[in-house]
Amino acid sequence: MADNIPPISMVEINFDDESLKYVKKIIKDKINFQSEKYNDNFLKRRLSVRIKANNLLSCKEYIPFLHDNNELEELKKNLTIHVTEFFRDSSFWKFCSSDFFLDTLKNIKNRKIRIWSAGCSSGQEAISILITFLEIDEKLKDRIHIIGTDISNEILSKAKEARYDSYGMKGLTDEIIDKYFSREGEEVIFKEEYRSNFDFFRHDILDDKHLENIDILFFRNTVIYFSKEAKEKLYHNIYDYLNKDSFLILGKTETISGPARDLFKIYNGIERIYVRE
Ligand SMILES: C[S@@+](CC[C@H](N)C(=O)[O-])C[C@H]1O[C@@H](n2cnc3c(N)ncnc32)[C@H](O)[C@@H]1O
Repeated sequence: MADNIPPISMVEINFDDESLKYVKKIIKDKINFQSEKYNDNFLKRRLSVRIKANNLLSCKEYIPFLHDNNELEELKKNLTIHVTEFFRDSSFWKFCSSDFFLDTLKNIKNRKIRIWSAGCSSGQEAISILITFLEIDEKLKDRIHIIGTDISNEILSKAKEARYDSYGMKGLTDEIIDKYFSREGEEVIFKEEYRSNFDFFRHDILDDKHLENIDILFFRNTVIYFSKEAKEKLYHNIYDYLNKDSFLILGKTETISGPARDLFKIYNGIERIYVRE
């Protein structure tokens, strides 16, 4: 008989509506994570990981475990997915160096360019932006200001540290490492002299607070976890956050949805670059 019991990793966790609703409320109240704005399938997948880790079979059984602060901490870590890499989607970065950033430099003269990497994870996207500008002209160092924000304080401390192991340095060539990083054993560390171009801090993109006077908003591979309604509202809010002619960049598989579609012009459809009208 025992041989017929599937391993817990293969088991489909049972989610009844009432328990899920209750757990979402706990997540919101105790973890300060706006669970109602994420899509339910994403939440169920993330919760299943913790439910299985505790050898349980249902969301209902998991509820009492949420009184334990250690479990809440584990769940919090599980609710965010930080996959990223340097120069993620290489055609996008080629387009930045051959066209997009050159156009930006033609349009914005004699002042700093303010760039926001929202959902920056461990900082690879933000660093890729600066390196791409510096490869165009190293004198641009004084003109590029990059703000990296994320909901997770843990991942932000990695972004601030800018120290990457062999997994984290994926996407870097030896030539770029030698120019912009120092090596320490198996790790690379982004050089101190470039750190002043960055500000990293916690910000929840689903909050109403936002940053101002942004020229380019990198918002790649973060919106995928949000509910349809939250996405549509957010795109609309982003229109208000950005100034006329500022740019919004989404991930390669993402597109503006809802009424905000009519508020942005497409600058490059393949690379998912939009201009705020
Ligand atoms: C998959 S990573 C994308 C990293 C990078 N933008 C890229 O494209 O490689 C998504 C990041 O969004 C963050 N995130 C999730 N919800 C967020 C929210 N409401 N506000 C800000 N960041 C959020 C996660 O913590 C995670 O680090």
